[in-house]
Amino acid sequence: MKCSQYKTSAGEGKERLRQSQITEWCHSIIASQAVKGGTYIDATMGNGNDTLFLCRLAGEKGKVLAFDIQEQAVQSTKALLAEHGCGEKARLIQDGHEHMDRYLEPEAADVICFNFGYLPGGDHRIATRPDTSLRAIQKGLEILKRGGMMSLCIYSGGETGFEEKDCILEYLRKLPAKEYTVIVNEYYNRKNCPPLPVFVFKM
Ligand SMILES: C[S@@+](CC[C@H](N)C(=O)[O-])C[C@H]1O[C@@H](n2cnc3c(N)ncnc32)[C@H](O)[C@@H]1O
Repeated sequence: MKCSQYKTSAGEGKERLRQSQITEWCHSIIASQAVKGGTYIDATMGNGNDTLFLCRLAGEKGKVLAFDIQEQAVQSTKALLAEHGCGEKARLIQDGHEHMDRYLEPEAADVICFNFGYLPGGDHRIATRPDTSLRAIQKGLEILKRGGMMSLCIYSGGETGFEEKDCILEYLRKLPAKEYTVIVNEYYNRKNCPPLPVFVFKM
């Protein structure tokens, strides 16, 4: 697949099953809203899977910025993008997402994607934190264009605890309904603190 190509069909069998996993679920909602040539932000770069997805979605004319505090994340993402022919597409920024306003003007982004937690395969002690996550969401909402969307994959339980999830949900619940639509999905019949996909649409 070329860097500028994103497969939108759900496919069959295993492919369809995969769509119900949180990352793919969020990707399919983002893809349903996205416009080619927009500005796409990956607020938690990690191993680069979301950055790669956004690069493909952005197409040739679009722009992608990705943030992570860890050098390891930047290196993994760089390698993944290069492997898939997207090496030049994204600007990889080693900085906290709570500083994203240093790199973007207000109402500049079409999509902002958060995938909270720790770097898979990395040090689990270095993870997103409630205070910085909240500040990043607040700044992200200012940076989002009207008509744009924010996607949030929220994890809880285990090493992660519940504080981050609780304070993000409390904050989102209070957003003015005239300005934002907040949709919280749920893996209703899954046990053991399943992840929570959340989407915020700016009116
Ligand atoms: C679950 S991983 C992200 C997975 C990633 N999106 C992917 O596709 O592989 C969460 C990432 O958030 C990063 N992170 C933690 N605090 C951060 C912050 N303040 N700003 C940006 N990234 C942060 C961690 O270093 C970790 O790599």
